[in-house]
Formats: sequence, structure tokens, C-alpha cells
Amino acid sequence: MSFESGNNKINWASSHMPILKKIDERFSVEKPLKNLTIAVCIHLEAKTARLAEVLHHGGASVLLTGSNTLTTQDDVSMAIEHRGVQTFAKYGCSEEEYTNSLDSMLKKNPSIFIDDGGDLTNRLHTHFKHLLPKVLGGCEETTTGVIRLKSRETNNRLHVPMISVNNALSKCLFDNRYGTGQSVWTAIMNTTNLIVAGKTVVVAGYGWCGKGVSMRAKALGAKVIITEIDPIKSMEAHMDGFSVMPMEKAAPIGDFFITVTGCKKVISTKHFSLIKNNAILCNAGHFNVEIDMEELHKVAVGKTVRKNIQEFTLPDNKKINVLAQGKLVNLASGDGHPVEIMDLSFALQALCVEYIKSAKLKPGLYNVPKSIDQKVAELKLQSLGISIDQLTPSQVEYLNAFEI
Ligand SMILES: NC(=O)c1ccc[n+]([C@@H]2O[C@H](COP(=O)([O-])OP(=O)(O)OC[C@H]3O[C@@H](n4cnc5c(N)ncnc54)[C@H](O)[C@@H]3O)[C@@H](O)[C@H]2O)c1
Repeated sequence: MSFESGNNKINWASSHMPILKKIDERFSVEKPLKNLTIAVCIHLEAKTARLAEVLHHGGASVLLTGSNTLTTQDDVSMAIEHRGVQTFAKYGCSEEEYTNSLDSMLKKNPSIFIDDGGDLTNRLHTHFKHLLPKVLGGCEETTTGVIRLKSRETNNRLHVPMISVNNALSKCLFDNRYGTGQSVWTAIMNTTNLIVAGKTVVVAGYGWCGKGVSMRAKALGAKVIITEIDPIKSMEAHMDGFSVMPMEKAAPIGDFFITVTGCKKVISTKHFSLIKNNAILCNAGHFNVEIDMEELHKVAVGKTVRKNIQEFTLPDNKKINVLAQGKLVNLASGDGHPVEIMDLSFALQALCVEYIKSAKLKPGLYNVPKSIDQKVAELKLQSLGISIDQLTPSQVEYLNAFEI
């Protein structure tokens, strides 16, 4: 791990992020973020570093920390510091150090922030209330963070404007589905060095991420089982050709288990005794609560048997393997989403930050403006050399007519 390896990682990411490059070129000239301090709390790896750099080129002072104790890449952190971004994260830090790094950023009075999962937003609302009136707004990157924001808004506890970047179509359709779909399997295969073809894969949750993870499992030759709580998503999984059943029925059958629900205790005590010997368990949901690790530690003895694999021996001598301590596997045991996917998500973040600066929003939860969502998709198509049809004036008239 060195400054040089971090630099190379950021350069590699930058050269495959054409949308951010376009935004960077404009920001570097126009400086639309001049005089702003922006706090960013997202998994600190190369793509995030590139986003921070673009915001910095836009004229802002940028503070950066990771959104998980196991997802910071220290070499990247070192390299982005040299490019003018102040960083606060360390790989493998304690929960207390993690919270301290959020607080250190908030002590610098940021007026805009980008969060991933809601921890920074919560810290702002609970321990830095005095900053609330000065905050122009923030952006939330992931589904779990948006769920927490909705709950804050419903309970009249959201005191700043927040944009749900996660729910933009050019985010969740691609990042959550194709990004999670690919990066989760890259991480599982690299971490375990095991074959997927012919195995039975159990995916808990058939939302955007679950769809991507299942689609890719099928393509790798696995038999796929979905567990769900929503009848419509369950029907969708059934029509997509997957087996659907409760976790208790899937537990004895699965070779790989991937939780991606945003819920807690999806695999819990009642399942551990049912799961077959040598099964692999991992989580791709935001928090490490989907596999009940606390209970697993109580009923089984764990030891590390390979990097990022803990083998738990149950009283009947059965072994269960857990990847990356039940933290989100694609980032804690991998490099996260493919670079081109994060180009879309982080272009949305950069443009939303620019929007927040001028929009004078009232506290509340907002969708990404449609013009920004479409702009990002347009820029992506341009970068791929793909052109599409335009409506003719008579087609516009036809589509807007109420009498045909
Ligand atoms: N690993 C990553 O890189 C990554 C990327 C994006 C999102 N996420 C996280 O993944 C999680 C899921 O995100 P999403 O966008 O797919 O959300 P989503 O809302 O689209 O899907 C979640 C699905 O899980 C189902 N579900 C909820 N509780 C369940 C339970 N107990 N058992 C079975 N199914 C259950 C819901 O019905 C829903 O269909 C969130 O925590 C999100 O923050 C992770």
C-alpha cells in the first residue's frame, strides 16, 4: 500500500469515468462550488476519490471519510490528500473512531454534505444541531439512507433539504442492479476461489440489488432461490424463472447465501442450525445486521481461515463460513461497483450538489430533478457513441392531444 498505488487507482478510475470528466472540465473553469465546504461520507476508494477531486476542482473545500469501517483503501486516502482533499478515514478503524471521523468533518462547518447510509445525517441532527440552520442541503447515495430519511421526515425530524440520489432512475436501475450484481459476484469469487456453476444460490430480497445479484448468479450457472416478504416482488421473481420460498426452506438447500434487503436478522438463529455444512454466507445490504452475527458468535466458535472468511463451528461440528464479517461484501472484500457504473451515480451527486447551492430548498426529502437524471443518461449515451431518436413536432402534438 503506497501513495503511488493509490494514485494509480484514482487515475485508472478517472480514465473510465467520462461523464465526471465532462463535469470536471466545466467545474474547473466555472468554479460553481466556490466558497463551499462539502463533507463527503462514502466508501473511500478510487471512484469516491475522483468525485471528491471533481468537487474540489469546482472550487469547494472537500472533506472526505468512509461510510464503513472496512471499506476505506488507505493508499487511495493518502493519494487524494495530495490532490487537495482532506480525509478522515482508516481501514479497520473501531466504531468509535468511525464516529469520531464524522464528527471531525462536522466540526469544520460544512454547508453541503453527501452521505451514504445516513450516519453523517444522523450525527448532524443529533450532535451538531447548531449547524442545521446553515446547511444548504445534502444528498443520499443508498436505499437504506433514504429509508432513514423518510422516517425522519415522517416524524418531523428532518431539518435540512436532502436529495435522494439513490432513487434517480439513472442511479438505481444501473448502480443497484448491474453494479451490485457484478461486484458482489466478483467479491465472492475472489474471496472464496470457489465455483458458482452448479451450486444453489439463495438471494434474500428481490429489489434492485437482489435482481442484479440473482441475474448474475443465473448467468454463472447457479440454481437460484429468492426469499422475499413482498408478494409482488415474489411474483416477479417467480416469473423471472427463480424458485421462491421462505428462508427456513431455503436454508438446508443453499451453498451460497446473499442478503440484500436493508432489513435485519434475515438469516438468524433459527436458520443457522438448518444451514448445510460448509455453506457460504455474505451480505450486500448496507448494514451488517442482515446476518445475525451477534447470535452466530454466541452459538458458534469462529476463526479466520482465509482473508475475509470466518469459519464458524456449531455445537454439532457443522461449519458455516461468513465473508467480510457480514459487512457489505462487494466493498469490504472487493473494490465495489464497476467504475463506469459509479460514473453515473457520482455524476448525479456532483450535479445535485451544484443544484443545491442555487436552489434554496426548504428542509425535506426531494427527488433528483428529472432534468439532471436525464442529463446524466444523455451524457452516458454520448460517451458510448449511442444516439437515439427525437420526437418530431407532430409526434409531440399527437402525444399531448386529449382528443385523437
Ligand atoms: N452492496 C452495495 O454496493 C449496495 C448498492 C446499493 C444498495 N445497497 C443496499 O442494499 C440494500 C437493498 O437495496 P435495494 O436498492 O435493492 O432495495 P429495494 O428496496 O429495492 O429492495 C429490498 C427488497 O428486500 C425485500 N425485503 C425486505 N425485508 C426482507 C426480509 N426480511 N426478507 C426478505 N426480503 C426482504 C423488500 O421487499 C424489497 O423487495 C439496502 O440496504 C441498500 O442500501 C447496497
